[in-house]
Amino acid sequence: MAGGPEHVAIIMDGNGRWATAKGWPRLVGHRKGAERVKEIVRCAPDLGIRWLTVYAFSTENWKRSTREVLGLMGLFARYIQREAEEMSAEGVRMRFIGERRRLDPKLQDLMAWIEERTRNNTRLNLTVAINYGGRDEITRAVQAIAAQVQAGQLDPAAVDHACLSAALDTRDLPDPDLVIRTSGETRVSNFLLWQSAYSEYEFSPVLWPDFTPEVLAEIVTRYGHRERRFGAVLS
Ligand code: FPP
Repeated sequence: MAGGPEHVAIIMDGNGRWATAKGWPRLVGHRKGAERVKEIVRCAPDLGIRWLTVYAFSTENWKRSTREVLGLMGLFARYIQREAEEMSAEGVRMRFIGERRRLDPKLQDLMAWIEERTRNNTRLNLTVAINYGGRDEITRAVQAIAAQVQAGQLDPAAVDHACLSAALDTRDLPDPDLVIRTSGETRVSNFLLWQSAYSEYEFSPVLWPDFTPEVLAEIVTRYGHRERRFGAVLS
């Protein structure tokens, strides 16, 4: 049996449908979604989770309306500002993955600020993916490695799995044990492509704004009954 998952990654899907079904603007769903993030962060350590990675904004999400994009960016900034105190008190270390340069400089400053402020916390490692895409991340990593090779600092024969892992945004994170996607969709959508090579997947029909700590606890328990083989045959 696998024991509990230490690193859980979540594709938080269904905010828009949740709001639309109630006749509300999509942003109301995102706002409720942000409250769920807070609750899940709070309960995660009690479920044995030490690493929690959430997909907040993909490299494809720029295609949404300006109103929705700006609304989401505002939510991220407010989350950092409002939760800074509690995260510090609760031992949460907050970090970000994704390409930052396209983000508003003020948001980039806030991200750097909270990373610095919480850097010594160890109870829970919360990583938020913003302007993140697995293919984009791998492409940027390959570019960095190619530049090192071109500069004569790296032998191409020395480029191995570890070298690539170390060039990814997630270089300081373990691979996820469990990847959850909410809202019934069964796609990976460019999330942690390299890192989830051996992860277990769980597709929950629950829309993210309805995703309670109880739902997470059930999934974590189910994970504990799975066998993970990493390509090997169990003895
Ligand atoms: C997917 O649902 C959700 C997103 C693109 C945004 C996720 C953001 C949050 C949960 C809010 C804030 C997060 C943090 C970290 C503060 P969707 O809009 O694609 O839903 P739909 O498929 O029903 O349209």
